[in-house]
Amino acid sequence: EKDGYKHFMLKEIFEQPRTIEDTFRGRIYPDEGRVYIEEVKLKLKEEYIKNISNIYIVACGTSYHSGLVSKFLFESFAKIPTEVDIASEFRYRDVILDEKTLVVVISQSGETADTLAALRLAKSKGCQTLAVCNVVGSSISREAMYVIYTHCGPEIGVASTKAFTGQVTALYVLALDWAYKREALTIKELKKYLKELWEIPLKINEFLKNAESVHDIAKVFANKRDFLYLGRHINYPVALEGALKIKEISYIHAEGYAAGEMKHGPIALIDKSMPIVAIVIKGRIYEKIISNIEEAKARGGTIIAVADQSDKEIGNKSNYVIYVPETDEFVSPLMTVIPLQLLAYYISLILGCDVDQPRNLAKSVTVE
Ligand code: F6R
Repeated sequence: EKDGYKHFMLKEIFEQPRTIEDTFRGRIYPDEGRVYIEEVKLKLKEEYIKNISNIYIVACGTSYHSGLVSKFLFESFAKIPTEVDIASEFRYRDVILDEKTLVVVISQSGETADTLAALRLAKSKGCQTLAVCNVVGSSISREAMYVIYTHCGPEIGVASTKAFTGQVTALYVLALDWAYKREALTIKELKKYLKELWEIPLKINEFLKNAESVHDIAKVFANKRDFLYLGRHINYPVALEGALKIKEISYIHAEGYAAGEMKHGPIALIDKSMPIVAIVIKGRIYEKIISNIEEAKARGGTIIAVADQSDKEIGNKSNYVIYVPETDEFVSPLMTVIPLQLLAYYISLILGCDVDQPRNLAKSVTVE
């Protein structure tokens, strides 16, 4: 059942080109600039989509991180004000909600207790609710008014991998569809962004051929006690996700930070023993994050950059580089998260940890 892979997690990492494609297949047609989203149950009416005043995205853990990624998509593509919250916080705050608010809950299992409670709260306030789920017929998918499924197949490894990329894919498609319906994107832009998604599985496949290069880096850093993960803009949530992966399966302390926040405190942590994984792909904040890593390097930190293949400069500015195929920045989290998943996997493997069943963790958190 592991298809020859040593662990479910590794199998699930390598499945992602296919699970991403399974999630967008039949939903997007880049040449024609068309998006079809077969909603289960009621259909979201075009009139409603045009009138959404704001979105609250609510989830836990890795699903929360995919929510943070999609905030950029709903804002930049669809121009809808979007907030993202952790379910266990959302449910105990006095959130201001009304019928024009759409509450999106994201859950691989569809059974997470806090996320389910947040969904019920949103319904009780009269909000429309949409769930992004992987498990068909799960509690959350049954109780939400609308559902969009990720088609990832069962995720067995406790550390979530393909569910994250499936969620980002589904939300990317949704944000593009709404952007076009709300006349926030032209057909030309829509086609361009659909094509970017279409090409992702091939690019991930290409990268995965060099997975061993990440293994080599893992060997250098497996004995470290702390890691910093830096990103900005749409790759800031990916930094959080990379740090979460390494924490949960290697038991190494790691923190994800928005790189621009470094000088407001965390830079004090940096010394020669601190590896810093930085996502520095091309995009609107490229120059900014370059200067952030230069500051970190000047203080003795060891920089492991995740960068575009075409980046000729990055080799001089960092100590190690993991090159990934070039992508548009808005689709890049689907690419940049892959090396971070692999890095956590290989470090866990080297340390002899239980990769698929890390201590103290359960696959589905059905109690508060
Ligand atoms: C991290 C992980 C957890 C889950 C979280 C939410 O690798 O697996 O953080 O992402 O418990 O679970 P779902 O998505 O099932 O609601």
